[in-house]
Amino acid sequence: MLSYDSVKVGASLEEIDTPALLINLDALEKNIRLVGEYYRTKNGALLPHQKGHRLPIIARKQIDAGAKGVSMTSFGLAEYYVSCGIKDILITCEICGDNKIRRLCSLSKHANIIVTVDSIENARHLSEMALANNVKINVCVELKTSDISAGVEFSNAKYFVRELTKLQGINFMGLWEHQGELGGIKSWKIRRDEHFSTLDKIAQLKSDIEDMGVEVQIVSSGFTCTWNITPEYPHLKDVQVQAGSYVFSDWCSHELEGLEVFDYALTVLTRCISRPAPDKAIFDFGMNSCSDESTHDYHNVVGPKFKNLEGVREVYEREEVSVVKFDEPNYEVKVGEVYEIIPPHSDTTAKLYDKYYCIREGKVEAIWPNIGRGLL
Ligand SMILES: Cc1ncc(COP(=O)(O)O)c(C=O)c1O
Repeated sequence: MLSYDSVKVGASLEEIDTPALLINLDALEKNIRLVGEYYRTKNGALLPHQKGHRLPIIARKQIDAGAKGVSMTSFGLAEYYVSCGIKDILITCEICGDNKIRRLCSLSKHANIIVTVDSIENARHLSEMALANNVKINVCVELKTSDISAGVEFSNAKYFVRELTKLQGINFMGLWEHQGELGGIKSWKIRRDEHFSTLDKIAQLKSDIEDMGVEVQIVSSGFTCTWNITPEYPHLKDVQVQAGSYVFSDWCSHELEGLEVFDYALTVLTRCISRPAPDKAIFDFGMNSCSDESTHDYHNVVGPKFKNLEGVREVYEREEVSVVKFDEPNYEVKVGEVYEIIPPHSDTTAKLYDKYYCIREGKVEAIWPNIGRGLL
């Protein structure tokens, strides 16, 4: 890991070279505890998605708080997690190509890995390579519930599962889906109704498959915006919920998804580097250090918000610096001072840095290398 600065544990925020990625440990721990405690008493299984923080140490905290394993989309990240001792991983992505499947065969000898299938060609490939490598590959069928996802159509899924079970070398484990559009529905009730109507279809499919004599051990569905909805569904038991972004949260999940219950645990520390006019300040963050899009619609440029700075009218983000315009002349902000900004989308911001500075009571308590950020 390339690193030129020499910040030490115990340093204050002012001593950190900016821009820098901060984790507020109290907020992080609160978010993990809140969701973990909820799932302890509910009909649901938390399987936190790791695509945001990509840190095995946080996965461990999530498991200690009650999660039953983890989920992730990147295969390379799964290899890293297994090397860090994480054993139960649902990979929410189809694994294709000789070399990746060979790596999957190897990984399946060291941990409980489940991968996604949605085509018979890919399933045959997995089956052949599993047999050649003397291993069983666990598979879950992805169901198509969104216009922007892969997956098997519901109408075809029973037939598809029957074909899968004829193949040797693979174990059919169950069904999963990700209906990302639910995140754009702010009303909890409308979101619940939409999610429940998908779960109704899954429950029916599960029962149809079991009528063929094939056990459906796993149903995985739901994410942060259904964290307290999926477990309320009465007709399925212990649905695995792939909630991810609750750990860090961000301002778009508060304002667009109505998820204010989670505290902001990820911020970017930035410094004012110039005051070109009383109503303008220039800060040393830009698109290279804080993502500018909203998860609600990735093409929607929205920019970050300041944590403790009032009167900001506009943040014009360039690549390496940003121009902040105030409503009125501002004489408080001084060159050299540090401020925290809240990203619109934590997941994509976190991938921009080699390390996280973990802060408690204004001091660096730990520095965590962000090894997972480049593992695809
Ligand atoms: C397949 C899958 N599961 C779960 C998630 C987690 O979503 P969230 O971070 O909103 O909980 C994502 C995010 O894009 C995803 O793609």
